[in-house]
Amino acid sequence: MSDGLEDVVAAHTVLSEVDGAAGRLVMRGHSLDALAGHTSFEEMAALMLDGFVPNLPREKQLQVALGEARKELFETIVRREAVPATLSPVEMVRAMTALIPDGEGAGVVLKLLAAPAVFTPGALRLRRGLDPVAPDPSLSQAADTLRMLTGTAPTPQQAAALDTYLVTVADHGLNASTFAARVVASTRAGLVSAVLAGISALKGPLHGGAPGPVIEMLDVIGAPADARAWLEAALDRGDRLMGFGHRIYRVRDPRADALKGAIRRLGADAGRLALAEAVEQAALAILRERKPNRTLETNVEFYTALLLEALGFTPDSFTCVFALGRTTGWLAHAHEQIAGGKLIRPQSVYVGPRPRQAA
Ligand code: CMC
Repeated sequence: MSDGLEDVVAAHTVLSEVDGAAGRLVMRGHSLDALAGHTSFEEMAALMLDGFVPNLPREKQLQVALGEARKELFETIVRREAVPATLSPVEMVRAMTALIPDGEGAGVVLKLLAAPAVFTPGALRLRRGLDPVAPDPSLSQAADTLRMLTGTAPTPQQAAALDTYLVTVADHGLNASTFAARVVASTRAGLVSAVLAGISALKGPLHGGAPGPVIEMLDVIGAPADARAWLEAALDRGDRLMGFGHRIYRVRDPRADALKGAIRRLGADAGRLALAEAVEQAALAILRERKPNRTLETNVEFYTALLLEALGFTPDSFTCVFALGRTTGWLAHAHEQIAGGKLIRPQSVYVGPRPRQAA
């Protein structure tokens, strides 16, 4: 057995392929280039779930149904007393999601797809002592998420940038959270349980919790000239540089450039982007010097941080937005697992003490 199950194949899937040597991501037969920037959250969800969920509305009807699901979740769950506002945003989103009755079928799928869109802005406003903003079911999910976050309608460019992000992170092979979701789905516990497992795995700093610390790093560094010294000191302390390295990619993560393109199209703060680029170049150079035997390149989280910051999300909520995109993948994998798979139940090798033989 390899540590971290590296090189272990645990599923056959029609959902996505990550080519770590070439730096290519394919989702349901389409390359990331063809999807990111050209596809909405709704279109991506329909693509990923195609053939898996009987009676799931399609095309314009899916946008309408998701709007209705957001409205229902807002009215039934997003209240001051629903979950403690002392929890972190991702813990609040997880706790609110746990209030959705478990089950399977199109109704549960719609609620789970809509859940982080309603719960993330709701949680952020409740934590600040503000009233949550009710959804506008007529909007796309990306536009409505931003509207519920700020209280004002986003520009089409902002909504398009969020769509680009959500599509870019929709699925990514058997990453830790997707594997966790598949394990739970394989027990037939229900789709809410599978998504809760996904959120729980995603929140770790080695997985979807990385982009918040990227912002802290940029803020502390402050100026391009100070990047090298700060990064050297972090590695001397034994810290990992957040936004770099990947289990599968041995070249640059293709999602990093998809998101960098979205930041440029958004016309976000040029100074902030210049600082990030300087930190990225310094980090790559130092990682090459210090780890010559391991290719450590920029991963998706580095430019995720910049894009979500430019859209008005706070660093402590970035994981919730990741969950909004990845729920599509979790649900598709859960269905694939239920349709074709057995209970996931690997074996372990006991290496502890043995009971003494009776004399
Ligand atoms: N900074 C410094 N050193 C690193 C980093 C990093 N970001 N990533 C890996 N290394 C080193 C690590 O210390 C080890 O060195 P040594 O062999 O000398 O002990 C070597 O590279 C191999 O590391 P590993 O832990 O065996 O590699 P892994 O495949 O288990 O790690 C990773 C993958 C993503 C957990 C890791 O690269 C990491 O911790 N990165 C920082 C956190 C991060 O950005 N996470 C987001 C991942 S991308 C989004 C997602 O899929 O969720």
